[in-house]
Amino acid sequence: EPEIITDKDQMRKWSRSMRAQGKTIGLVPTMGYLHQGHISLIKEAQKHTHLIVVSIYVNPGQFSPSEDLSTYPSDFHGDFEKLKTLSGGVDVVFHPHNLYDYGNSDTISRSSSNDNDREERSEKGAVVSCIEDRKVGHETWVRIERLEKGMCGKSRPVFFRGVATIVTKLFNIVEPDVAVFGKKDYQQWRIIRRMVRDLDFSINVIGSEIVRDADGLAMSSRNVHLSPEEREKALSISRSLLRAKLDAQNGQIYSKEIRNLVIQAIHEAGGRVDYAEIVDQESLEAVEEIESPVVFCVAAWFGKVRLIDNMEINV
Ligand code: PAJ
Repeated sequence: EPEIITDKDQMRKWSRSMRAQGKTIGLVPTMGYLHQGHISLIKEAQKHTHLIVVSIYVNPGQFSPSEDLSTYPSDFHGDFEKLKTLSGGVDVVFHPHNLYDYGNSDTISRSSSNDNDREERSEKGAVVSCIEDRKVGHETWVRIERLEKGMCGKSRPVFFRGVATIVTKLFNIVEPDVAVFGKKDYQQWRIIRRMVRDLDFSINVIGSEIVRDADGLAMSSRNVHLSPEEREKALSISRSLLRAKLDAQNGQIYSKEIRNLVIQAIHEAGGRVDYAEIVDQESLEAVEEIESPVVFCVAAWFGKVRLIDNMEINV
Protein backbone atom coordinates (compact mmCIF):
# COMPACT_ATOMS: atom_id res chain seq x y z
CA GLU A 1 0.00 0.00 0.00
CA PRO A 2 1.38 3.46 -0.92
CA GLU A 3 2.31 5.79 1.90
CA ILE A 4 0.28 9.02 1.92
CA ILE A 5 2.38 12.10 2.62
CA THR A 6 0.75 15.51 2.97
CA ASP A 7 3.61 17.51 4.45
CA LYS A 8 6.27 18.86 2.10
CA ASP A 9 9.12 18.60 4.57
CA GLN A 10 8.23 15.00 5.25
CA MET A 11 8.10 14.37 1.51
CA ARG A 12 11.58 15.75 1.02
CA LYS A 13 12.86 13.76 3.99
CA TRP A 14 11.47 10.54 2.49
CA SER A 15 13.11 11.24 -0.89
CA ARG A 16 16.47 12.10 0.62
CA SER A 17 16.56 8.98 2.76
CA MET A 18 15.64 6.79 -0.22
CA ARG A 19 18.26 8.42 -2.41
CA ALA A 20 20.84 7.93 0.33
CA GLN A 21 20.06 4.22 0.03
CA GLY A 22 20.81 4.36 -3.68
CA LYS A 23 17.20 4.30 -4.85
CA THR A 24 16.05 6.32 -7.85
CA ILE A 25 12.72 8.15 -7.73
CA GLY A 26 10.15 8.74 -10.47
CA LEU A 27 7.55 11.51 -10.08
CA VAL A 28 4.17 11.63 -11.81
CA PRO A 29 2.50 15.00 -11.12
CA THR A 30 -1.30 15.00 -11.38
CA MET A 31 -4.35 16.94 -10.27
CA GLY A 32 -6.14 13.69 -9.38
CA TYR A 33 -9.43 12.19 -10.54
CA LEU A 34 -7.18 9.56 -12.03
CA HIS A 35 -7.91 7.72 -15.26
CA GLN A 36 -6.00 5.36 -17.54
CA GLY A 37 -4.02 8.28 -19.00
CA HIS A 38 -2.53 8.96 -15.56
CA ILE A 39 -2.01 5.25 -14.95
CA SER A 40 -0.04 4.95 -18.21
CA LEU A 41 2.35 7.66 -16.96
CA ILE A 42 2.91 5.68 -13.76
CA LYS A 43 3.62 2.52 -15.78
CA GLU A 44 6.10 4.50 -17.89
CA ALA A 45 7.81 5.86 -14.77
CA GLN A 46 8.09 2.33 -13.34
CA LYS A 47 10.32 1.39 -16.28
CA HIS A 48 12.90 3.99 -15.25
CA THR A 49 13.16 4.16 -11.45
CA HIS A 50 13.08 1.99 -8.33
CA LEU A 51 10.45 4.05 -6.56
CA ILE A 52 7.37 5.98 -7.68
CA VAL A 53 5.82 9.12 -6.22
CA VAL A 54 2.44 10.25 -7.58
CA SER A 55 1.44 13.78 -6.58
CA ILE A 56 -2.21 14.75 -6.40
CA TYR A 57 -2.73 18.48 -6.05
CA VAL A 58 -5.25 20.75 -7.75
CA ASN A 59 -3.08 23.81 -8.22
CA PRO A 60 -4.99 27.10 -7.81
CA GLY A 61 -2.02 28.97 -9.30
CA GLN A 62 -2.78 27.66 -12.80
CA PHE A 63 -6.46 28.64 -12.83
CA SER A 64 -7.71 32.16 -13.46
CA PRO A 65 -10.59 33.29 -11.25
CA SER A 66 -13.06 32.78 -14.13
CA GLU A 67 -11.97 29.19 -14.77
CA ASP A 68 -13.14 25.87 -13.35
CA LEU A 69 -11.08 25.55 -10.14
CA SER A 70 -14.14 25.13 -7.93
CA THR A 71 -15.72 22.48 -10.16
CA TYR A 72 -12.52 20.62 -11.03
CA PRO A 73 -13.38 16.99 -10.18
CA SER A 74 -11.67 15.25 -7.30
CA ASP A 75 -12.02 11.93 -5.51
CA PHE A 76 -9.01 11.21 -3.36
CA HIS A 77 -10.37 7.94 -1.96
CA GLY A 78 -11.17 6.63 -5.42
CA ASP A 79 -7.73 7.69 -6.63
CA PHE A 80 -6.05 5.98 -3.70
CA GLU A 81 -7.95 2.73 -4.38
CA LYS A 82 -6.73 2.79 -7.99
CA LEU A 83 -3.13 3.37 -6.94
CA LYS A 84 -3.30 0.68 -4.26
CA THR A 85 -4.23 -2.06 -6.70
CA LEU A 86 -1.81 -0.99 -9.41
CA SER A 87 0.67 -3.68 -10.36
CA GLY A 88 4.28 -2.65 -10.00
CA GLY A 89 3.28 -0.39 -7.16
CA VAL A 90 3.29 3.24 -6.14
CA ASP A 91 5.43 4.04 -3.12
CA VAL A 92 4.16 7.46 -2.10
CA VAL A 93 1.06 9.49 -2.85
CA PHE A 94 2.04 13.10 -2.19
CA HIS A 95 -1.20 14.91 -1.41
CA PRO A 96 -0.47 18.35 0.04
CA HIS A 97 -3.35 20.49 1.23
CA ASN A 98 -1.86 23.80 0.14
CA LEU A 99 1.52 24.35 -1.47
CA TYR A 100 1.31 28.15 -1.15
CA ASP A 101 1.21 28.07 2.63
CA TYR A 102 4.53 29.32 3.95
CA GLY A 103 3.42 29.54 7.53
CA ASN A 104 1.72 32.92 7.23
CA SER A 105 -1.87 33.15 8.37
CA ASP A 106 -3.50 34.53 5.20
CA THR A 107 -3.59 31.33 3.22
CA ILE A 108 -5.97 30.01 0.64
CA SER A 109 -7.83 26.82 0.15
CA ARG A 110 -9.70 25.55 -2.88
CA SER A 111 -13.08 26.12 -1.33
CA SER A 112 -12.40 29.75 -0.49
CA SER A 113 -11.53 30.83 -4.02
CA ASN A 114 -14.46 29.89 -6.16
CA ASP A 115 -15.89 33.26 -7.15
CA ASN A 116 -16.32 32.70 -10.85
CA ASP A 117 -17.20 36.25 -11.70
CA ARG A 118 -14.08 37.98 -10.46
CA GLU A 119 -12.09 40.08 -12.92
CA GLU A 120 -9.22 38.23 -14.55
CA ARG A 121 -6.98 41.25 -14.42
CA SER A 122 -6.21 43.15 -11.28
CA GLU A 123 -6.41 46.94 -11.09
CA LYS A 124 -2.79 47.26 -12.09
CA GLY A 125 -3.56 45.27 -15.24
CA ALA A 126 -1.51 42.29 -14.16
CA VAL A 127 -2.71 38.82 -15.04
CA VAL A 128 -3.91 37.06 -11.92
CA SER A 129 -4.58 33.48 -10.95
CA CYS A 130 -6.66 32.09 -8.11
CA ILE A 131 -3.88 32.72 -5.63
CA GLU A 132 -3.19 36.42 -6.12
CA ASP A 133 -6.59 37.52 -5.00
CA ARG A 134 -5.72 36.22 -1.55
CA LYS A 135 -2.99 37.64 0.61
CA VAL A 136 -0.60 34.75 0.25
CA GLY A 137 3.09 35.20 0.66
CA HIS A 138 3.88 33.96 -2.81
CA GLU A 139 5.22 36.18 -5.57
CA THR A 140 7.78 34.16 -7.50
CA TRP A 141 6.80 32.71 -10.87
CA VAL A 142 8.60 30.67 -13.47
CA ARG A 143 7.94 31.78 -17.04
CA ILE A 144 8.93 30.12 -20.27
CA GLU A 145 8.69 33.28 -22.27
CA ARG A 146 8.25 32.18 -25.87
CA LEU A 147 6.78 28.68 -25.53
CA GLU A 148 4.08 29.82 -23.11
CA LYS A 149 2.71 32.52 -25.41
CA GLY A 150 0.82 30.59 -28.08
CA MET A 151 -2.08 28.12 -28.13
CA CYS A 152 -3.28 27.38 -24.57
CA GLY A 153 -1.24 30.33 -23.29
CA LYS A 154 -3.29 32.73 -25.40
CA SER A 155 -6.66 31.83 -23.96
CA ARG A 156 -5.31 30.96 -20.51
CA PRO A 157 -2.74 33.69 -19.74
CA VAL A 158 -1.92 32.48 -16.22
CA PHE A 159 -1.93 28.78 -16.98
CA PHE A 160 1.65 27.92 -17.93
CA ARG A 161 3.13 30.29 -15.41
CA GLY A 162 1.17 28.40 -12.77
CA VAL A 163 2.10 24.99 -14.16
CA ALA A 164 5.82 25.79 -14.46
CA THR A 165 5.88 27.21 -10.95
CA ILE A 166 4.08 24.31 -9.27
CA VAL A 167 6.14 21.76 -11.18
CA THR A 168 9.30 23.58 -10.03
CA LYS A 169 8.02 23.41 -6.45
CA LEU A 170 7.23 19.71 -6.81
CA PHE A 171 10.67 19.06 -8.29
CA ASN A 172 12.29 20.87 -5.36
CA ILE A 173 10.19 19.02 -2.80
CA VAL A 174 10.34 15.51 -4.26
CA GLU A 175 13.79 15.75 -5.90
CA PRO A 176 12.99 13.03 -8.44
CA ASP A 177 15.41 11.51 -10.97
CA VAL A 178 12.71 11.12 -13.58
CA ALA A 179 9.39 12.90 -14.14
CA VAL A 180 6.74 11.74 -16.60
CA PHE A 181 4.26 13.99 -18.41
CA GLY A 182 1.58 13.15 -20.96
CA LYS A 183 1.74 14.31 -24.56
CA LYS A 184 -2.00 14.91 -24.26
CA ASP A 185 -0.92 18.28 -22.88
CA TYR A 186 1.66 18.71 -25.60
CA GLN A 187 2.55 22.35 -24.97
CA GLN A 188 2.82 21.67 -21.23
CA TRP A 189 5.19 18.78 -21.86
CA ARG A 190 7.42 20.87 -24.16
CA ILE A 191 7.42 23.74 -21.68
CA ILE A 192 8.50 21.51 -18.80
CA ARG A 193 11.28 19.97 -20.91
CA ARG A 194 12.54 23.40 -21.86
CA MET A 195 12.34 24.66 -18.29
CA VAL A 196 14.34 21.69 -17.02
CA ARG A 197 17.02 22.31 -19.62
CA ASP A 198 17.13 26.08 -19.17
CA LEU A 199 17.22 25.97 -15.36
CA ASP A 200 19.55 22.96 -15.06
CA PHE A 201 17.24 20.70 -13.13
CA SER A 202 18.92 17.32 -12.93
CA ILE A 203 15.75 15.49 -13.90
CA ASN A 204 14.98 13.37 -16.94
CA VAL A 205 11.59 14.49 -18.31
CA ILE A 206 9.79 11.81 -20.27
CA GLY A 207 6.80 12.33 -22.57
CA SER A 208 4.19 9.58 -22.62
CA GLU A 209 1.73 8.85 -25.43
CA ILE A 210 -1.92 9.97 -25.34
CA VAL A 211 -4.36 7.40 -23.95
CA ARG A 212 -7.78 7.40 -25.61
CA ASP A 213 -11.13 5.79 -24.89
CA ALA A 214 -12.18 3.06 -27.33
CA ASP A 215 -14.07 5.63 -29.43
CA GLY A 216 -10.99 7.85 -29.76
CA LEU A 217 -11.76 10.59 -27.22
CA ALA A 218 -8.57 11.56 -25.38
CA MET A 219 -9.04 10.71 -21.71
CA SER A 220 -9.32 13.71 -19.41
CA SER A 221 -10.54 14.30 -15.87
CA ARG A 222 -12.80 17.00 -17.37
CA ASN A 223 -14.64 14.49 -19.59
CA VAL A 224 -16.85 13.68 -16.58
CA HIS A 225 -18.54 17.07 -17.11
CA LEU A 226 -19.63 16.21 -20.69
CA SER A 227 -23.24 15.15 -21.21
CA PRO A 228 -23.64 12.02 -23.37
CA GLU A 229 -24.61 14.28 -26.31
CA GLU A 230 -21.64 16.58 -25.79
CA ARG A 231 -19.35 13.60 -25.50
CA GLU A 232 -20.57 12.29 -28.85
CA LYS A 233 -20.03 15.71 -30.43
CA ALA A 234 -16.57 15.96 -28.88
CA LEU A 235 -15.51 12.92 -30.91
CA SER A 236 -15.30 15.33 -33.84
CA ILE A 237 -11.94 16.47 -32.44
CA SER A 238 -10.14 13.12 -32.47
CA ARG A 239 -11.86 11.96 -35.66
CA SER A 240 -10.95 15.06 -37.64
CA LEU A 241 -7.40 15.04 -36.26
CA LEU A 242 -6.96 11.48 -37.44
CA ARG A 243 -8.31 12.45 -40.83
CA ALA A 244 -5.88 15.38 -40.91
CA LYS A 245 -2.97 13.08 -40.24
CA LEU A 246 -4.02 10.75 -43.06
CA ASP A 247 -4.38 13.70 -45.43
CA ALA A 248 -0.88 14.89 -44.55
CA GLN A 249 0.51 11.40 -45.03
CA ASN A 250 -1.20 11.27 -48.42
CA GLY A 251 0.65 14.36 -49.57
CA GLN A 252 -1.38 17.36 -48.44
CA ILE A 253 1.31 19.77 -47.26
CA TYR A 254 -0.69 22.96 -46.77
CA SER A 255 -1.52 23.59 -43.12
CA LYS A 256 -4.32 25.92 -44.04
CA GLU A 257 -6.22 23.22 -45.96
CA ILE A 258 -5.84 20.66 -43.20
CA ARG A 259 -6.70 23.12 -40.45
CA ASN A 260 -9.85 24.20 -42.22
CA LEU A 261 -11.16 20.65 -42.39
CA VAL A 262 -10.71 20.19 -38.64
CA ILE A 263 -12.15 23.59 -37.74
CA GLN A 264 -15.17 22.89 -39.94
CA ALA A 265 -15.73 19.39 -38.54
CA ILE A 266 -15.70 20.64 -34.95
CA HIS A 267 -17.89 23.59 -35.83
CA GLU A 268 -20.43 21.36 -37.60
CA ALA A 269 -20.56 19.09 -34.55
CA GLY A 270 -21.55 22.11 -32.44
CA GLY A 271 -18.20 22.76 -30.80
CA ARG A 272 -16.51 26.13 -30.48
CA VAL A 273 -12.88 26.06 -31.61
CA ASP A 274 -10.48 27.93 -29.35
CA TYR A 275 -7.48 27.20 -31.57
CA ALA A 276 -6.41 24.66 -34.18
CA GLU A 277 -2.74 25.05 -35.00
CA ILE A 278 -0.14 23.03 -36.83
CA VAL A 279 3.19 23.75 -35.17
CA ASP A 280 6.77 22.54 -35.14
CA GLN A 281 7.13 19.79 -32.51
CA GLU A 282 10.05 21.52 -30.75
CA SER A 283 9.60 25.24 -31.22
CA LEU A 284 5.77 25.19 -31.29
CA GLU A 285 5.95 27.81 -34.07
CA ALA A 286 3.14 27.60 -36.61
CA VAL A 287 4.14 26.14 -39.98
CA GLU A 288 2.50 26.88 -43.32
CA GLU A 289 3.76 23.76 -45.03
CA ILE A 290 4.19 20.37 -43.46
CA GLU A 291 7.74 19.33 -44.26
CA SER A 292 9.18 18.44 -40.87
CA PRO A 293 7.78 16.75 -37.73
CA VAL A 294 4.79 18.79 -36.63
CA VAL A 295 1.98 18.45 -34.15
CA PHE A 296 -1.58 19.50 -34.81
CA CYS A 297 -2.95 20.95 -31.57
CA VAL A 298 -6.62 21.68 -30.97
CA ALA A 299 -8.65 23.19 -28.14
CA ALA A 300 -12.42 23.39 -28.36
CA TRP A 301 -15.40 24.05 -26.16
CA PHE A 302 -18.35 21.69 -25.94
CA GLY A 303 -20.90 23.33 -23.69
CA LYS A 304 -19.01 24.45 -20.60
CA VAL A 305 -16.15 22.03 -21.10
CA ARG A 306 -12.92 22.98 -22.81
CA LEU A 307 -11.11 19.98 -24.29
CA ILE A 308 -7.66 19.72 -25.81
CA ASP A 309 -6.18 17.07 -28.09
CA ASN A 310 -3.37 16.77 -30.59
CA MET A 311 -1.86 14.53 -33.24
CA GLU A 312 1.83 14.28 -34.08
CA ILE A 313 2.43 14.19 -37.82
CA ASN A 314 5.79 12.82 -38.89
CA VAL A 315 5.91 12.94 -42.68
P1 PAJ B 1 -3.57 16.51 -14.99
O1 PAJ B 1 -4.49 17.13 -15.96
O2 PAJ B 1 -4.12 15.74 -13.83
O3 PAJ B 1 -2.60 15.59 -15.79
C1 PAJ B 1 -1.54 14.93 -15.14
C2 PAJ B 1 -0.66 14.30 -16.19
O4 PAJ B 1 -1.43 13.31 -16.89
C3 PAJ B 1 -0.18 15.30 -17.24
O5 PAJ B 1 1.18 15.04 -17.56
C4 PAJ B 1 -1.09 15.00 -18.43
O6 PAJ B 1 -0.51 15.32 -19.68
C5 PAJ B 1 -1.29 13.51 -18.27
N1 PAJ B 1 -2.49 13.06 -18.99
C6 PAJ B 1 -3.76 13.50 -18.81
N2 PAJ B 1 -4.61 12.86 -19.68
C7 PAJ B 1 -3.83 12.02 -20.41
C8 PAJ B 1 -4.10 11.11 -21.48
N3 PAJ B 1 -5.34 10.92 -21.97
N4 PAJ B 1 -3.06 10.41 -21.99
C9 PAJ B 1 -1.80 10.59 -21.52
N5 PAJ B 1 -1.49 11.44 -20.51
C10 PAJ B 1 -2.49 12.15 -19.97
O7 PAJ B 1 -1.53 18.31 -16.24
C11 PAJ B 1 -1.81 18.50 -15.08
O8 PAJ B 1 -2.62 17.65 -14.34
C12 PAJ B 1 -1.25 19.67 -14.28
O9 PAJ B 1 -1.08 20.76 -15.15
C13 PAJ B 1 0.08 19.35 -13.54
C14 PAJ B 1 1.19 18.96 -14.51
C15 PAJ B 1 -0.15 18.23 -12.51
C16 PAJ B 1 0.55 20.61 -12.76
O10 PAJ B 1 -0.41 21.03 -11.86
